[in-house]
Amino acid sequence: MRLTRVAASGVALFGAATAQEVTKYYDPTTNITFSSITHANGVSYRIALPIDSPVADAIFQIVSPNDFAWCGLAWGGHMTQNPLSVSWPTGQTTGQQAIVSSRFAYGYYAIPQPYDSATYTYLRGTSANATHWQVTARCQGCTRWSSSDGDFNIEVLSETVLAYACSSVAPEAPASNTSAFNVHEQFGIWGHDLQAGKSARADFDEWVRGNAGAEV
Ligand code: HEM
Repeated sequence: MRLTRVAASGVALFGAATAQEVTKYYDPTTNITFSSITHANGVSYRIALPIDSPVADAIFQIVSPNDFAWCGLAWGGHMTQNPLSVSWPTGQTTGQQAIVSSRFAYGYYAIPQPYDSATYTYLRGTSANATHWQVTARCQGCTRWSSSDGDFNIEVLSETVLAYACSSVAPEAPASNTSAFNVHEQFGIWGHDLQAGKSARADFDEWVRGNAGAEV
């Protein structure tokens, strides 16, 4: 299925607006099947969902070239009033090599705040090497939220609008997911085919069990 990326208007902050394709992607490291998009800046965003989940549950993966020192996924397709999964490499060569910071922005001119309504569990495939860093995590609370914009549940949709933001400037304290960081150099908004990454609840649960790490 071909989905067109919607051009955003933030001229100075916006990267190349080429159409990218959302495809089914099988990750051999975790056995997880995601719906995946790789943007023109080389960063991939992948989402796997259980079909018919009674609770907000998702697995996501962000794979970034080392050109970027943080990249975030906005589950509602814009910066404010939706869960943000902001990820970056820690710079450590052993232990936790990449982390997720759970945030929520109430405005455009302040750093997004910590968001306690989403719980993340790291999965296998959270790592960094000489060329890339990546985070693979379960998020309980990213796909359903309430805000001043209303109540949302994107799990029931077959397609939704997502957004990303990336910067080459590292957070102040990269080893901490409560670190401050500065405004992005790029952002993008796209239509994402969620259906391609939906699987039976039993498969989803098995992926979580088989790949689970620590909670954050
Ligand atoms: C210190 C942190 C941040 C600052 C100061 C900041 C600031 C801004 C500003 C000033 C704009 C332009 C607003 C406009 O042109 O109307 C913007 C847009 C945007 N930002 Fe951020 N931002 C930050 C972090 C993030 C993060 C972590 C994400 C996503 C994970 C994000 C996603 C976006 C997106 C998608 C837009 C496009 C407008 C929209 O659709 O909401 N930002 N940001």
